[in-house]
This record gives sequence, C-alpha cells and structure tokens, in this order.
Amino acid sequence: MRRPSAQLLVIHAAELATLAGPPRPRAGKEQSDLGVIVDGAVAIGPDGRIVAVGRTAEVLQEVSLTPETAILDAQGRAVIPGFVDPHTHAVFAGDRVAEFEQRLQGADYLAILAAGGGILQTVQETRAATLEELFAQANRSLDRMLVAGTTTVEIKSGYGLSTEAELKQLQVIAKLAAERSQTVVGTVLAAHAVPPEFRDRPDDYVELVCTEILPQASQITSIRFCDVFCEVGAFTVDQARQILTAGKTYGLRPKLHAEQKHRLGGAALAAEVQAVSADHLEYVDDEDIDKLRTAGVIAVLLPGAAFVLRERRHAPASRMIERGVPVALGTDFNPGTSPIWSMPLILGLACLLYGLTPGEALVAATLNAAYAIGLGETHGSIEPGKWGDLVILDAPSHRYIPYYFGSPLVDTVIVKGRVMVQKGQLCQ
Ligand code: NIG
Ligand code: FE
Repeated sequence: MRRPSAQLLVIHAAELATLAGPPRPRAGKEQSDLGVIVDGAVAIGPDGRIVAVGRTAEVLQEVSLTPETAILDAQGRAVIPGFVDPHTHAVFAGDRVAEFEQRLQGADYLAILAAGGGILQTVQETRAATLEELFAQANRSLDRMLVAGTTTVEIKSGYGLSTEAELKQLQVIAKLAAERSQTVVGTVLAAHAVPPEFRDRPDDYVELVCTEILPQASQITSIRFCDVFCEVGAFTVDQARQILTAGKTYGLRPKLHAEQKHRLGGAALAAEVQAVSADHLEYVDDEDIDKLRTAGVIAVLLPGAAFVLRERRHAPASRMIERGVPVALGTDFNPGTSPIWSMPLILGLACLLYGLTPGEALVAATLNAAYAIGLGETHGSIEPGKWGDLVILDAPSHRYIPYYFGSPLVDTVIVKGRVMVQKGQLCQ
C-alpha cells in the first residue's frame, strides 16, 4: 500500500491531546477523555487533512516525506486541537467602552437596553456602517482569535434588526467564511432585540423575521442556524418558538440564548424544538438539564459574559456533565457582555468559576464546541480524515492553560495544515 505523503509533520509532542474516540459529543466521564499520546506526532496531507496520528516513531513509519514536507519539533510542548468558538457576535461596528464603565458604576445591563442603549446602540452603529467597514473590523477580530488559537468560529447577526441590515451582516459573515483560513459558520439572530421601529408592536417584527428575513438569510452560503435572545425585554418563549419553527422550514437549525438572566422556559423550548444547542443557561434547574439531555441538546456555556456582567450566579456546568449533557464553551465575543476573544481565557474562567477540570474544559472548547455548530465530524479532534487544525502550546500540558490564567500560551497555530501563527505572532 502507498504511504500517504505528509505536507506538515509535527513530532515529539510531550503531550498530544488527540481527543480521539467515538464520534459523538462527550458528556459524563467521557467529557474528560483526551486520548493523550506521549511523544506524539501528527501528519497532515497536501489537502489540509490529517493523514496519521500516533507516537512519533510510528507516524514516521506510516507516512512518506517529500522535499517539501515541513517538520515542526514540539519537544517539551503540548499539541491540542485548534479551539472551536461556537458562539460569537463578531460582526459589529464601534464598541461599548462607555457602557462598560457605566455598568462598573452600577448600571444594569437590561435597564440600559430598555432605555434604548446596549444592543440597540450597537444596532445604530452597525446600520450606519458599510459592508466593507464591518468586514474590516470583524476581520481584525478574527485575526486576534487566530492568535489565541481559534481555528473555527460561529458568528451571529443581530445588530441589524431590519431585512437590509441583517442581510448586510450575514453577507459579511459569508465573506469571512470565503476569505479566512479559519472555518466560519453563520447564524441569523434577527431576534436579538426588538428594533426601535417596532417597539410597540413586537409581534409584527416577529412576523417580519419569519416571513422575510429568515427565508432570505437561508439563501446565503454558510448561514446554517437560527437563534433568538429569549429574555425579559427581548423575546418571549412563544415568540422564540414561532421564529425557530419558521427557521427550521428554511433549513436553519435552531439555537437559543436561554435562561441567561431569568428562568423563562428557554431550555425547555430548546429541547422541544430539538435545538442543536442551548446557550448561557445560568438559571437552569435539574428538570431543564434532564430535558436537554433527553433531546440531545448541547449546552454552550459562556462564562465570559457572566464574568463581565459580574453575575453571582453561574451555569451549573458540572451538574450538566454529571447528568449527561455535553458541555461546550464559547467566548460570546460581542461589544457588550463579552469583549473577550480568547478561548484560553474562557477555559480558565470555566475552571475557576464552574470548577471544571482542565480536561473537561478542553473537550468543551474543541470537540463538543464543534458538535454544537454541526461540525463534529470534521473538526474538533486530531484524527485521520479531520482538518489539520492544531495548536502548539508554550507549555508541556493543556493543564497549564487555566493555571497561567490570562497569559497567552499559544505558540503555533496551524489551520488546515498551514502554519498561520508562530511564536504567538501572525505569520505575514
Ligand atoms: O450573548 N445576551 C444577548 N446577546 C449578547 C450580548 C449582546 C450585546 O450586549 O451586544 C450575549 O450576551
Ligand atoms: Fe450571545
């Protein structure tokens, strides 16, 4: 049999966390299965897919080297899958640094929104921006994510809140998907807030979302999901049901911002509509957790948002894992509740706020996150056939990520077999 040729070979990893295992999201004891290989190696073929994984001596036997093969020696370092960020709002104009300071002085997030600020401030600025301006700002954010080790990212709309402005944001996501090295998938979050023009007739806006925005959004390549902010001052469970059900008829898989600040029944709705994920979940109870498990919904937890909003209450992550719900982690990168683009920082928060083990957090930030955006078969672990998306840490084990909290330990980032970041810097 001909040996596959390697275009890139990473050898002698002190700890290669492959996450190899059964092709399904991980919960319970499996949530910390890392499939570690000591003195590990990974070979990536010319098409950017992984061709061999194992101990260095074995992999060197299995593949053929050509004069073009690049070899990276990871001696003394850990190699992990590239991070998958399954929940961001990365396309927006401006920032909310002034609101950040207001909140530090005691202003409440939902009260700011009710007064026409918060999300609605970003809506104003995003509506006024051109597609090119939005692209330039988001492109820069995705560079920062890449330097922090994120090789796959989900991005939501939701700062347009009109057919034209939502489609503009979604076109930016499609352009990022076409032009970035990272894998990018998109979500329509037209129901993020009630736009000012519909302030007194929110049901008319829900109607517009269902009959006009969703069908047009579903025509855009790389837009795969439909999401709703189900919260006091945003959308009710009934409105969310209507929107997610309509989205399904256009082939958009449901996701939901649920139980972030109140327990409204969002988790139960996510189970009812068989959402691919339910996100935030600070206020769920055991009954909700069991519904999520039975319906196969993945919990996407966003500790950055809770931390920035200085919430006392955190999502019961360990309880979910224990009761069989696969937990994923995301940044929720957005200008309001989470100006955080770093997945390593999120892993640290998940360990420190929820008490997850570093291993549980790593599975949550890679394989389970990939399943939470429908990419579990091709992304999120280091296995033959999957994309060659890897991170080499400036540390001998993944356990140092939460331990050196807030410090960039990402040395090298490889996307589909191409080295994009070296020594913590973007390659030009
Ligand atoms: O996931 N909670 C709703 N949406 C975002 C925040 C958006 C914003 O404040 O701009 C979130 O936290
Ligand atoms: Fe969000």
